[in-house]
Amino acid sequence: MSSIVIAGAQWGDEGKGKIVDVLMREAEVVARYQGGHNAGHTVVIEGKQYILHLVPSGILHEGTLSVIGNGTVVEPSALIKELDELAVQGIVVNGDNLLLSKSAHLIMPYHIAIESATEKKLGKAKIGTTGRGIGPAYVDKALRIGLKVGDLLYPDLFRTKLESSLAYSNDILEKICGMECFEAQAVYDQYMEYAERLKPYIGDASIAVNQALDEGKNVLFEGAQGTLLDIDHGTYPFVTSSSSIAGGVCTGLGVGPTRVGKVLGIVKAYTTRVGSGPFPTELIDDIGKRMQERGGEFGATTGRPRRCGWIDAVALRHAMRINGMGAIALTKIDVLSGLDELKICTAYEFRGEKITDFPSSAAELEECTPIYGTVVPGWLESTKGATSMEAMPGAARDYIAAVEDAIGVPIEIISTGPGREELIILKDQF
Ligand code: IMP
Repeated sequence: MSSIVIAGAQWGDEGKGKIVDVLMREAEVVARYQGGHNAGHTVVIEGKQYILHLVPSGILHEGTLSVIGNGTVVEPSALIKELDELAVQGIVVNGDNLLLSKSAHLIMPYHIAIESATEKKLGKAKIGTTGRGIGPAYVDKALRIGLKVGDLLYPDLFRTKLESSLAYSNDILEKICGMECFEAQAVYDQYMEYAERLKPYIGDASIAVNQALDEGKNVLFEGAQGTLLDIDHGTYPFVTSSSSIAGGVCTGLGVGPTRVGKVLGIVKAYTTRVGSGPFPTELIDDIGKRMQERGGEFGATTGRPRRCGWIDAVALRHAMRINGMGAIALTKIDVLSGLDELKICTAYEFRGEKITDFPSSAAELEECTPIYGTVVPGWLESTKGATSMEAMPGAARDYIAAVEDAIGVPIEIISTGPGREELIILKDQF
């Protein structure tokens, strides 16, 4: 039995989708444990681009099982759209290769309306969410008024639960947000249609994943977003509403901690962030713009431009500790060619003092300025598509070594482009 958690070490968009796709060559099961269609995983195979939101990136490998765990939140029409798009691209998805946990919670249309009203009310303090209803769906889960995927299989129960949940949400919409209410009948009819489409996939994800582990199969746990967007360990309140760290695997899939093997941290060779919130190493200059353009740093889900900056070893050391990351896959190194020099943030200055631990409060982080303890020369040569360290310019190798040194965790994979083969594997993972 072998399992690996693939988790983002920054603010998401680290390139997890590609690493999952590559490691799926050796795995038989891949399981998502949190988040929803706020995620966007881009995978390029033979020049063809696949953008996945809720369906794990492993679906692109024939003969494997992709699982959407109980810790996720599912918007049925978005999932159906994603399945339809995969079908157009020739990817066959059926009850044999996709399993949707009956315990995952449903995103309802009123969640999206409530989220948009909440963001409006927050004004300048808004989170800058993806607007997919993720937060309110998790709110209803915690309030214990949420509807689960499994409820779709029992129309009468679904109807009863919908009416009581909607009574509460309509009050919020009407009395607090000044918005229109939703009609239970219309929502019910629509979700019963979705139920027909999704029925073949619905099952018990915990049983399936544990059984695969019992049978000695290799399993990947696919995280969405990243450590700094985690509800507990990220830059709260500018975070998503789920446990995106490796610990989320246990609660989000019904898998015990003793069954989780290695944790591979995915780290982009620089830093990006979408939405609001503190970002000490952000570059609001030509270098940041260059990273954005060369890296195609525009959200795969919302198309929003991503904020860009230097790599931040303070934040990364926090991510290594919180997740127990024992190895790193460093992605998008090819984006950094052509810079005079590269900086690595190794500490912050906070109220006149040098600190090396990531602050637990976003307000404190907002006051931190980066200390670039390591500055290395850049390189002009392209590293795109390199498949060995020997093929990399010396300065790029020095940068990689400096990043490894600053984080204190070995880099075992280096991604040199979006394609499946554009990769340097320094150590096999399974
Ligand atoms: P939400 O997840 O839509 O509630 O958004 C909360 C925060 O997480 C916002 O700053 C989003 O931009 C960010 N976020 C959510 N999903 C992703 C992702 O897949 N990549 C990067 N940022 C994300």
